[in-house]
Amino acid sequence: MRVVIFGASGYLGSQFMKMYPDSHAPSIDIGEKDHVVSALEEFQPDIVINAVGRTGRPNVDWCEDHKEETMWSNVAGPLILLNECGKRGLYWVHMGSGCIYNGDNGGKGYNEEDEPNFMESFYSKSKAWADQMLKEFPEQVLVLRLRMPFDGTAEERNLITKIAHYDKVLDVQNSVTCIPEFLEATKQLIDKKKTGLYNIVNSGTISPFQIMEMYKEIVDPAKEFAAITNDELLKIAKAPRSNCVLNTDKLKKEGIELRPVEEAVKDALEEIAKNSK
Ligand SMILES: NC(=O)c1ccc[n+]([C@@H]2O[C@H](COP(=O)([O-])OP(=O)(O)OC[C@H]3O[C@@H](n4cnc5c(N)ncnc54)[C@H](OP(=O)(O)O)[C@@H]3O)[C@@H](O)[C@H]2O)c1
Repeated sequence: MRVVIFGASGYLGSQFMKMYPDSHAPSIDIGEKDHVVSALEEFQPDIVINAVGRTGRPNVDWCEDHKEETMWSNVAGPLILLNECGKRGLYWVHMGSGCIYNGDNGGKGYNEEDEPNFMESFYSKSKAWADQMLKEFPEQVLVLRLRMPFDGTAEERNLITKIAHYDKVLDVQNSVTCIPEFLEATKQLIDKKKTGLYNIVNSGTISPFQIMEMYKEIVDPAKEFAAITNDELLKIAKAPRSNCVLNTDKLKKEGIELRPVEEAVKDALEEIAKNSK
C-alpha cells in the first residue's frame, strides 16, 4: 500500500510515519496546488494522510497574528486536497479537532452532527471552516477529530509536557486523546476505508489540573502549580480557549472504544517517570 503523508515532520505526522514506515513524506506546501499535484503524480498513493496544520508556537495565540499562514495551511490546503484527491478517486485522511466546540452539550458531549459553537480563536475558526466544508463530502475523506493529544514521551506538543511547564493549570473538564490509542483506532478506520467525521477521544473527562495532580504523585512530588479557572486564563491568553466534551457513540458503533481517561493518563505518566530516571 502506497501512503503519502503531508506534515510528516509534525507531532502527529511523525507518529503516522511510525505507523506507516514505508510511506512517502514529500516536503511541499499543501496550499500550493502545483506542489500537491506533483506529489500525487510522483507517488501515486493509495492513501493520503494530511497531518498538516498551522497550530502556532508556542501556542495557538500565534494564529491570531498570522491569519494568512493559518488559513493557507488549515483551510486552503485541505480544499486543494479535496479537489485533487477527489479528481483521482484517492482515499484521504484529515486531522480535525474538537477545539471547534465549547461545553459538554448538557452532559451528552458534542457528536459529529453538532454544529461548531466555538469560533473565538482564529485557530478554532480555521479548523471549524475546514471541518464543515469536508463534512459536505462524506464519501471522500475520513476526518479524525482529536482533542488535547498526549502520550508518554517528552515531545514538546504532548499535552503533559506542555502543562508540566505551567505554574497555573486550567481546572476545566475536557475530552483528551491518548495518541497510541488514537493511532490504533485510526488504523482500524483506515483498514475499513471509512469516510466521514469521527470523534476520537478517550472515555470520560479530565482537567489539565487533575492530570498535574497525578503528575505530582507519579512523576515529580516536588512539582508546584496552582489551579486557574477559564476566566482567569482569559486574562493572560490572547485568544480564548475551547473546553469541550466530545461524544464517541459513532466510534463505538464501529466497535472502537478508547480506554477510560484516568487509566490512559496514568500509563503515560508512568512511562514519563520511567524515562526521566
Ligand atoms: N496537537 C494538537 O493539540 C492537535 C489537536 C487536534 C488536532 N490537531 C490537528 O492535527 C494536525 C497536526 O497537528 P500537530 O500537532 O502535529 O502540528 P505540528 O506539530 O505543528 O505539525 C504541523 C506540520 O504541518 C506542516 N505544515 C504547516 N503548514 C504547512 C503547509 N502549508 N504545507 C505543508 N506542510 C505544512 C509543518 O511543517 P513545518 O514544521 O515545516 O512548518 C508540520 O510538519 C493539525 O491539523 C492540527 O490542527 C492537533
